Amino acid sequence: MSPAGSYRIAVIPGDGIGVEVIAEAVRVLLEVGRRNEIALSFEHGLAGGSAIDAVGHPIPDATVALCRRSDAILLGACGGPKWDRGPVHLRPEQALFTLRKTFQLYANLRPAIVSAPLVGASPLRRDIVEGTDLLIVRELCGGLYFGAQSRAGAGEGATATDTLPYSASEVRRVVRKACEIARLRPRRKVTSVDKANVLETSRLWREVATEVARDYPDVAVEHMLVDNAALQLVRNPRQFDVVVTENTFGDILSDEAAGVVGSLGLMPSASLGEAPPGMFEPVHGTAPDIAGRGIANPVAAILTAALLLRYGVGHEASASALEAAVTGALADGCRTEDMAGAARPLGTAGMTDAVLRRLR
Ligand code: NAD
Ligand code: IPM
Ligand code: MN
Repeated sequence: MSPAGSYRIAVIPGDGIGVEVIAEAVRVLLEVGRRNEIALSFEHGLAGGSAIDAVGHPIPDATVALCRRSDAILLGACGGPKWDRGPVHLRPEQALFTLRKTFQLYANLRPAIVSAPLVGASPLRRDIVEGTDLLIVRELCGGLYFGAQSRAGAGEGATATDTLPYSASEVRRVVRKACEIARLRPRRKVTSVDKANVLETSRLWREVATEVARDYPDVAVEHMLVDNAALQLVRNPRQFDVVVTENTFGDILSDEAAGVVGSLGLMPSASLGEAPPGMFEPVHGTAPDIAGRGIANPVAAILTAALLLRYGVGHEASASALEAAVTGALADGCRTEDMAGAARPLGTAGMTDAVLRRLR
C-alpha cells in the first residue's frame, strides 16, 4: 500500500483501442491530480494479446504482482481477432477473468446516464430516454464465466457444456452491495433481474435477494425476469434505478444500456470487491474495426478515470469535477465519430483536449 495521500495506479492498456483511450485517461488523471494535489503514480503492466505477443501469456505474474501492490487498476480492454484461435487458457480475455477473480471484484458498477446533452445522441426517442440515470450492478466473479466447461465427441455428435453455478453467499454479497448503493441514491430502488421461471440458480438468486431486501426496509426491491428487463430497458429506461444481476445477464444488459445512451464509447465501469485494489475499465472492448485510427471515443475511459477517483482514491470532488467537464464538452457539441450528430467529429486526443479545457 502507498503512504497516506498518495496512490499507486496500475495501468493496463491491453489491446486495440484500449491502448489509445487509456493513454488519454492517464493524461486526464495527471492533470486532475496536479490541480487537486492528489499524488498519483502510474506503473504500466502487460495483459491480453499484447502480453501473449511479448511473453507468451495473457496475464503474466508480474502484472498480477503490480496490481497487488497498487491502490487501483486502470484497464483498457483485451482481445482481438489475432488471438482468437489460440487455446482457451491463452485467450486474451483470460486476463480479465484472472484479475476479477484474484481480487474478488464481485461488483461491477456500470452506470448508464443520459445527461441533457446526450438526449439527442440516443437512437431512442427523446421522450423515452430523457432523464435516464440507472446503474447496473453486474456480478463479476461467478456464473457461466467461471463454471466448469467441457467438450466431447466430434462432428455432428460433438457436444459442449457450460455450467452456471452460484452460491447463496455470492448472491448475497452482490445484492447487499446493490442495496447499499441504492440507499445513497434519491430513488432507493433495486431491480433484481433473473430468470427464475427457468433456471435453478435464478430461483436461488431470487430467494437470497428477497432475504437481503428485508435488511433494507428503506430500499424498494423488485424482481424482474431478464427477457422482460431487456424489453423494459428500451421501452422505459427511466423506471430503473439500480439493477442487480448475474454475470452474463449483466454483460448483455449493459451493452444494451450503451445502446440506450448512444454509444459504447460513453460507458465507464468500476469493479469493486471488499478491499482495494478495485479495477476500473470502460465497458467497451478493443474495437478492432476502428483501432489504430485515432478516432476512438475516449469519454468512456475518462469517465472510468472519474470512477477511479471516486471509488479508488475517495476524492469525490475531483470525480464530479471531471464528470462535469465531460458534460460541458458534450453540451458544447464536442462529439466523436461514434456519436449521433457528429457533424465535424473530433479524434481521440481532440475530444480529451475538449474535456481538459473545461476542467474546473
Ligand atoms: P467492442 O466493444 O470492442 O466494439 C463494439 C462496437 O462498438 C464496434 O463497432 C466498435 O467500433 C464500437 N466501439 C466500442 N468502443 C468504442 C469507442 N470507445 N469509441 C468508438 N466506438 C467504439 O466489442 P466487440 O467488437 O464485440 O469485441 C472486440 C474485442 O474486444 C473482442 O476480442 C472482445 O473479446 C474484446 N472485448 C474486451 C472487453 C474488455 O477487455 N473489457 C470488453 C468487450 C470486448
Ligand atoms: C466486458 C467484456 C468481457 C466480459 C469479455 C471481453 C470477456 O464483454 O467486460 O463486458 O464478457 O466480461
Ligand atoms: Mn461485455
